[in-house]
Amino acid sequence: MRDSSSLKMLGITTMMLVFSVLHETSGRDLRQVTEPKIPAACESLKGSGGDETAVIQKALSSCTKGKTVHLVSGTFVSGPLTIPSGIGLWIDSGVTLKASSNAKLFDKGKNICGTVSTQYNGCNPFISMKNVDGSGIYGKGTIDGQGGVKLTGKSQSWWDLAHEAQVKNQYQNNPTLVDIESSREVILYQVSIVNAPNYHVIVGSTNGFTAWGVTINTPPSTRNTDGIDPAGSQNITIHDCSITTGDDNIAIKAHFAPSRHISVTNCRFGPGHGMSIGSDIDEGVSDLTVENLVQHDSLNGLQIKSDRSRGGLVTNVTYSGVCMRNVTNPIVLNTEYSKTATGDHIPEYKGITFSNIEVLTPGKFTFDGFSDAKPIQATLHNVVIAKGSTWVAKHAKITGNYVEGSGGKGC
Ligand SMILES: *[C@@H]1O[C@H](CO)[C@@H](O)[C@H](O)[C@H]1NC(C)=O
Ligand SMILES: *[C@@H]1O[C@H](CO)[C@@H](O)[C@H](O)[C@H]1NC(C)=O
Ligand SMILES: *[C@@H]1O[C@H](CO)[C@@H](O)[C@H](O)[C@H]1NC(C)=O
Repeated sequence: MRDSSSLKMLGITTMMLVFSVLHETSGRDLRQVTEPKIPAACESLKGSGGDETAVIQKALSSCTKGKTVHLVSGTFVSGPLTIPSGIGLWIDSGVTLKASSNAKLFDKGKNICGTVSTQYNGCNPFISMKNVDGSGIYGKGTIDGQGGVKLTGKSQSWWDLAHEAQVKNQYQNNPTLVDIESSREVILYQVSIVNAPNYHVIVGSTNGFTAWGVTINTPPSTRNTDGIDPAGSQNITIHDCSITTGDDNIAIKAHFAPSRHISVTNCRFGPGHGMSIGSDIDEGVSDLTVENLVQHDSLNGLQIKSDRSRGGLVTNVTYSGVCMRNVTNPIVLNTEYSKTATGDHIPEYKGITFSNIEVLTPGKFTFDGFSDAKPIQATLHNVVIAKGSTWVAKHAKITGNYVEGSGGKGC
């Protein structure tokens, strides 16, 4: 009697275990995403190298839904542009679209864009897609933010302003390169986005976003130049990307709404602050899969960061098939990103799975939960770390263990 009931218990426990492992791998973009196609052109433009804001904007505003404005050849310089609903911007191979270095063109009306100030949010973005459905940027050309170029009539570049702001503990008023807000089904396909004055791509309150074959490249010495930041957004796919920058390669946030159903697949990260979740996650981040990622020469690898002023629940996250070399903090789960933060938005990270992770060089691994009442709950399957690494786990329930490897084949 006693035996049969404990056998039954074992059976049920095994079933539940199999069930939960299967479910852990289910958090991803719910859409069936395939490689985008570039829509036909409504108008073709050749760049003269001069300021063409009005020409490009006029073409975008008069284009037919479902079509693209095709930048065919040359270099274009422009101030802020708005892509209307259903319209694409096609930047063809060899074409460069430069953000103007004239800060006045980006000013939001407070006359502080291009300055270091105690006020922030003084600039409009370079390319905006707001309240759109089915808009996008396509083609193998380049969007160049010119972050390191001296601003018109000034002795400093956008990046110089960012460093000055750090020293003065104030804000640089620099534009975001591509800002997508309150939209549906937006696509970035093949384009290179480089030298951002501030963030490269923000995806706010958006349902359905695909970045496919996108390259982001900005020097590691720059500040606040995150690669792609989904915030309060759902059904996100970032596939076949290459991201090198001075801040988070990707940062998933959830300040005003939850972020969930996100897939990051087949990407390669150079220098940067990592594949990050945080810092603002009040509304929760869940159902994220990061699969087939290579990270090298960066500060952080897989990072979740928040604190009690802006924490929330992060769950159903799977990292699988990640190879790292020369990464200072290959895994860092931090609930006290700001040690001086106050508040009761306690960060809670559970259902975090690390599967087939290979770290070739020594680094620091941190699992720092908030308290024994709200510990980090993580699972490790086939996690291989380099000899000489540091492993710190506090307020953490970790299932499975890592093994020390000998350096492996490289990645
Ligand atoms: C996490 O995944 C499980 C199983 O798929 C699901 O029941 C649960 O609602 C998810 N939690 C969140 C917060 O998405
Ligand atoms: C996500 O995609 C699924 C499948 O297409 C869809 O049913 C769901 O409504 C989408 N969610 C949002 C928030 O758009
Ligand atoms: C390791 O990465 C750092 C940047 O984090 C870089 O400065 C350094 O040159 C890299 N080392 C090697 C051996 O590549």
